Amino acid sequence: MEQTTIEMLKSKKDFYIGKTVQVSGWVKNFRESKTTSFLELNDGSTFKPLQIVIQKEGNTKINEATLNGVMHLGIAVTVSGVVVSAYHNADDAEINAEKISIIGNCATDYPIQKKKTSLEFLRTIPHLRVRTNTFMALFRVRNALSMAIHNFFQSRGYFYIHTPLITGGDAEGAGESFQVIAPDFQGDFFGAPASLTVSGQLEAEEAAMSLGRVYTFGPTFRAENSNTTRHAAEFWMIEAEAAFTDIDGIIDVARDMIKSIIREVLVKCPDEMAFFDNFYEKGLVEKLRNVADNAFARVDYTEAIEILKQSGKKFNYPVEWGIDLQTEHERYLTDEYFKKPVFVVNYPRDVKAFYMKQNSDGKTVAATDLLVPGVGEIIGCSEREADYDKLITVMKARKMNLDNYRNYLDLRRYGSVTHSGFGLGLERMLMYLTGISNIRDTQLHPRAVGELR
Ligand code: 4AD
Repeated sequence: MEQTTIEMLKSKKDFYIGKTVQVSGWVKNFRESKTTSFLELNDGSTFKPLQIVIQKEGNTKINEATLNGVMHLGIAVTVSGVVVSAYHNADDAEINAEKISIIGNCATDYPIQKKKTSLEFLRTIPHLRVRTNTFMALFRVRNALSMAIHNFFQSRGYFYIHTPLITGGDAEGAGESFQVIAPDFQGDFFGAPASLTVSGQLEAEEAAMSLGRVYTFGPTFRAENSNTTRHAAEFWMIEAEAAFTDIDGIIDVARDMIKSIIREVLVKCPDEMAFFDNFYEKGLVEKLRNVADNAFARVDYTEAIEILKQSGKKFNYPVEWGIDLQTEHERYLTDEYFKKPVFVVNYPRDVKAFYMKQNSDGKTVAATDLLVPGVGEIIGCSEREADYDKLITVMKARKMNLDNYRNYLDLRRYGSVTHSGFGLGLERMLMYLTGISNIRDTQLHPRAVGELR
């Protein structure tokens, strides 16, 4: 008999009612009464499981063993039976089982059990935690989020490009990259030091000077010694770059993207988002709807510093014009003051990267971070310095090795135009979308300081 997925059964319920089908999946729950057993089955095609009803009496085809305590969580089974409307929800389907076979046994020390297990414990078993409701929901949302990002950029005429993962430079200039070595070549495979990319931006800028609008979507590596709940050593970043676009133009794109992906995820993953709303952040769906439908806040860095100073709060890092905003400052601005996403614009030049457009005040750059409640920074964004002389002056002042940036400088010599871009951290966006508070719980196998399972 042809296999039917649970998704097919649920989405085309009316077609399947009364028909005999065969489905396979893993047992997510099993309960027995004297006359009836209930088995919840999931094959991954839907978030919610399918209920299998097993009438014990007079059902000679059911293998007796399945009803004698053999059945437990994690076992893989194939079930055939007749599709009926679910007893408790006429919109849903269930199966009256006629035959059940165990196709994959599951050892009794299976660590995923019905009772709620802590996320900390689940981090010790990344190969199995994906089977829990939390991670089934998470990876389904991660999938929808990824597609929503592509859909947004494709609909706006951006080209998806792939920038190198092995690079010769350090785009952010912060020296926080992992080195790449090939032992058989005495560490000199490329004839020059190589590292894993910390950002595809510099290469994306090259492409934008021909294709106009581009975006990357790929793995990014940072050897920051930041053992926090929002820093990963390997994460996925989306970087957009647009020619003929200034800081205000790119802020509009970033805002539209966030709204568009929130809307799409809410439509594509209603069950998963209801789950996160229920178990991780009460009011989550309502919050996201509000974000999608309302204006974001925008505040000048200088004004943000005033707001922080007047907050009456005692911060661990003293607030002074010129500081880079710390998590505690970002959280005050988003969680307590604005209570919604906020673009902080025009940061002091000295706390930001060398490539950002210098403002005419001589002190600040046309850069913005998008901060969101609960998470903090999810987007880093700027207009790029398009003027050759200005760029080189800053690079010299920072004692950068200009030879490493010849390609980048060439872009300012050959048809340089105003251009801007931003980077969105996929996992940070996922934290915001789900209410999951540790970035380690947004990846299949988290990579962070001291974390390599
Ligand atoms: O602010 P960042 O460092 O900006 C850049 O890399 C620019 N080149 C982007 C651009 O303009 N094209 O990083 C961008 C975003 C952050 O806002 C954050 O969401 C995420 O990347 N991010 C991290 N996510 C997880 N773990 C880390 N260690 C991260 N570092 C940055």
